[in-house]
Amino acid sequence: MRELIEKYKKEVLAFKSKDKVETDKFRIKFMSKNGVLNELFSKFKEIDASEKKEIGLLINSLKNTINSKIKQPEKLNKNENKVNLTDFTLPSNNENIGSLHPLTIVENKIINIFRLLGFNLETGPEIEDDWHNFTALNMPDNHPARDMQDTFFIKKSPDQLLRTHTSSVQIRFMENNSPPIRIISPGRVFRNEAISARSHCLFHQIEGLAIDENINFSDLKLIIQEFVNQLFGENKKIRFRPSFFPFTEPSAEVDIYWGLNSEADKRITKGTGWLEIMGCGMVDPNVLDNVKIDKTKFSGYAFGMGIERIAMLLYQIDDIRLFYENDIRFLKQFQSSHIF
Ligand code: DAH
Repeated sequence: MRELIEKYKKEVLAFKSKDKVETDKFRIKFMSKNGVLNELFSKFKEIDASEKKEIGLLINSLKNTINSKIKQPEKLNKNENKVNLTDFTLPSNNENIGSLHPLTIVENKIINIFRLLGFNLETGPEIEDDWHNFTALNMPDNHPARDMQDTFFIKKSPDQLLRTHTSSVQIRFMENNSPPIRIISPGRVFRNEAISARSHCLFHQIEGLAIDENINFSDLKLIIQEFVNQLFGENKKIRFRPSFFPFTEPSAEVDIYWGLNSEADKRITKGTGWLEIMGCGMVDPNVLDNVKIDKTKFSGYAFGMGIERIAMLLYQIDDIRLFYENDIRFLKQFQSSHIF
């Protein structure tokens, strides 16, 4: 009897269920009414009383082993059920979700504001010629204003350079369209400058231009005040400070009142409380002549601002180089800003 139990035990231990059908066969062979266990129990009744204790223990142990083998596939099935019950509508753990670049966020904000004010989006090439970047903007050869913007020259003839400002798009658009004109043009500009915390050889600008009959300086002031209200908050104080640009007459620089509430405010406003945010003015009649728009009938205003500068103010960033280093610790901080 001992050998018989031993033989079954080996068989049970060796059993590995592949599927439910096999497990059922196994269960029937060992546990059914006419199965192995019942056969052993009936033989058990006939054995000598002195052996009963030991044999009884062996049969019980065999029974437990059989049971554990039968339960294993059930466990498997339970796990399968769990998988099937996964709720696929649950949000996933997007721990490393990307984000828009701060310059894109700010550019989109500015574009959205001007679009609602009736301006269309226009772009121009980054590789420009002297006419569109300088001459047509009232900066003839040897004009001292050319030195205001150190230029990357590419080729002499035909002349090619990297545009130093987005004002070149004004010229391209006016050459090919007639008034009324209301456009904004964002884009990259390049200057041959030493890279530091405050300036870079590559940065972004947004140019604005409006040409129509009877446009005057008060139209420009209204649009800029509205823009500042929407970007920086209602009723921010601004001032127009007389300035010079070859392509506008009169010209002004716009400052906003930033305040002097903290040490940082004092530092970035150089103790005045005021911060310059853009250049602007009434389009110079010479420029209208250059693009063959009738200066006796039409007038207009233009403005241009640096996107990095605005982003640095809005997000309190103190080093322009951070925008171009792709440091994930910097970029991650803009994950919650979604302006498309
Ligand atoms: N182009 C100028 C610059 O790069 C900015 C500017 C000033 C644009 C006055 C304008 C303007 O349209 O009217 O510094």
